Amino acid sequence: LPKEHSLMIEAHELLAKFYHHLLMNTNEGSGALDYLLKRGFTKESIQKFKVGYSLPDWDFAVKFLENRGYSHDLMEKAGLLSVREKDGSYFDRFRDRIMFPLHDSKGRIVAFSARALTEENQPKYLNTPETILFNKSSLLYNYHEARSHIRRQGNVVLFEGFADVISADSADVKNGVAVMGTALTDKHIHLLNRLTNAVTLCFDSDSAGAEAAFRSGQMLIKYGIDTNVVILPDKLDPDDYIRKYGPDKFREHVIGNAQTWMAYKLHYFRKGKNLQNEGEKLSYIERALIEISKLENAVERDLYLRQLSEEFSLSLEALVEQLSQMNISSE
Ligand code: CTP
Ligand code: MN
Ligand code: MN
Ligand code: MN
Ligand code: MN
Repeated sequence: LPKEHSLMIEAHELLAKFYHHLLMNTNEGSGALDYLLKRGFTKESIQKFKVGYSLPDWDFAVKFLENRGYSHDLMEKAGLLSVREKDGSYFDRFRDRIMFPLHDSKGRIVAFSARALTEENQPKYLNTPETILFNKSSLLYNYHEARSHIRRQGNVVLFEGFADVISADSADVKNGVAVMGTALTDKHIHLLNRLTNAVTLCFDSDSAGAEAAFRSGQMLIKYGIDTNVVILPDKLDPDDYIRKYGPDKFREHVIGNAQTWMAYKLHYFRKGKNLQNEGEKLSYIERALIEISKLENAVERDLYLRQLSEEFSLSLEALVEQLSQMNISSE
């Protein structure tokens, strides 16, 4: 590892420790700590995930790093400091924010994501920019900690955000990682595939989350990964759900009842359709038949055909006939 890289990592580790100290033990951090506790984070999980708080000062990290001998230039390359255009002076990138350290797959802190404490302060999350050590599309939050649990359980739960991973962890779902709001990439999948062949998608239940689950699932399936999808109610995200219904319900009824990829696709295609309307109903049935025709397993095909037939009071014969015509036309 080049000297510069290890200095950058060292600086992150030192700052993360200090941000954590500020959050846990100081007056300056007490507002941020209150915010986290009110949201339902426990002290144990704040400690485990080394969550911290950055001061509002413009030059706290500048001085902190300077005093320890790290050059401004290198710290700017690491994404910790920014440069003023007008005079080339340096200032802290992260100010007055909740600090989430981001670890690489070896467990070294290479970046931060920093959450604002109020709605007025935008963006909600401010991340380290792309650096030599950090690329958002090839890092999964909590990968280094979850790794052994993923191997042991033979499954990984994929979330959108930090709070989801942390809440799930305290609900004893320890095989969780997060894409941090970006699209799932081939690099992410490669990281997961080293540990397991089974992924449970547990995204927010807003429309962005539903789209992301659909796109992610399509990619995972292409890699031959066994994919299941959790559908949460009422536009909640996993963190919200755990706060509202508790850890046991989340584990047993939600993670335990994840939909198969086929069932999720059917759910996805009927979303927003008015099935009382003849045309929309027929178009959904056709879509469902296309998906059923792609199934290689005859028993599975039969299962979903029967479901469709019962749901819409259609004869099985009619559906089978339609299906056989579709197979012919797709050849
Ligand atoms: N995200 C980001 N920058 C933003 C918004 C979101 O990087 N401006 C990433 C964060 O990693 C976040 C994830 O996308 O955790 C999911 O976004 P969202 O669902 O909006 O945030 P939550 O994780 O639910 O955050 P919170 O509960 O703190 O509002
Ligand atoms: Mn562990
Ligand atoms: Mn979201
Ligand atoms: Mn969310
Ligand atoms: Mn949330």
